[in-house]
Amino acid sequence: MKSILNNKASEKLIFALDTKSYDEALSWVELLSGHVGMFKIGKGLFTSAGPKIVEEIKKRGQRVFLDLKFHDIPNTVARAVEAAMEYDVDMLNVHASGGSEMIRQAVLAATAFAEKQKKSKPVILAVTVLTSLDDADLDEIGFKSEVDDLVINLAKLAKEAGADGVVASPVDIINLRKSFGDDFVVVTPGVRVAADASRDDQKRTLSATEAIKAGSDYIVVGRPIREADQPLNACLKIIQEIEDALSVK
Ligand code: C5P
Repeated sequence: MKSILNNKASEKLIFALDTKSYDEALSWVELLSGHVGMFKIGKGLFTSAGPKIVEEIKKRGQRVFLDLKFHDIPNTVARAVEAAMEYDVDMLNVHASGGSEMIRQAVLAATAFAEKQKKSKPVILAVTVLTSLDDADLDEIGFKSEVDDLVINLAKLAKEAGADGVVASPVDIINLRKSFGDDFVVVTPGVRVAADASRDDQKRTLSATEAIKAGSDYIVVGRPIREADQPLNACLKIIQEIEDALSVK
């Protein structure tokens, strides 16, 4: 499965609902519904608001990326995937470093559950190497590879185990496309508005135009929209950047 969405620029934009407040999350959903392709719910919001926030967003006809990065024994992850599917999430993720059997069981559980419940299977992504880790961190943990090589190794493992794609830093997109071609979903956080000098704590960033041109299928954006003086304008500006990139691809 390459993509559940079409090629419309706005559908390639995933908004990160990085708030712990249920009410604030819903006010962002009200503002950005129809403008972004999906809303990403991470550990903070899910831990404070629970599945109810997923249900509410789905009730409003919007798509949800449940970013809980499951990493556990295969059976536990498989059951967690089924639990997420009760709420019709459209995309979810697991850590590739949980191993091929864990990913395989997650994909098998999702496929079986989708068939049984006559639902569509969510896009299952693998997180390769967290963007907060560098070569020194890997060495400290005891991994003998460098980040670039480990990203490709883990992406290969994830693809062979049946994952639909990966979450990847903007700087990894070109290597991933070289290694895996176009039939693999690449979702990219760490994207900034082209003219924006402030890059928060994201070290390896690209503009939306650069990320889409490099081959990203979806970009995840939080603060550049959330912290803008006019968030909707910032969102529309990013969509324009995506459109520009698509028009020259
Ligand atoms: O605010 P900002 O645009 O940096 O938000 C990016 C979002 O993508 C956050 O929700 C962050 O947790 C998530 N993310 C990331 N890097 C990863 C995976 C997810 O920044 N490797």
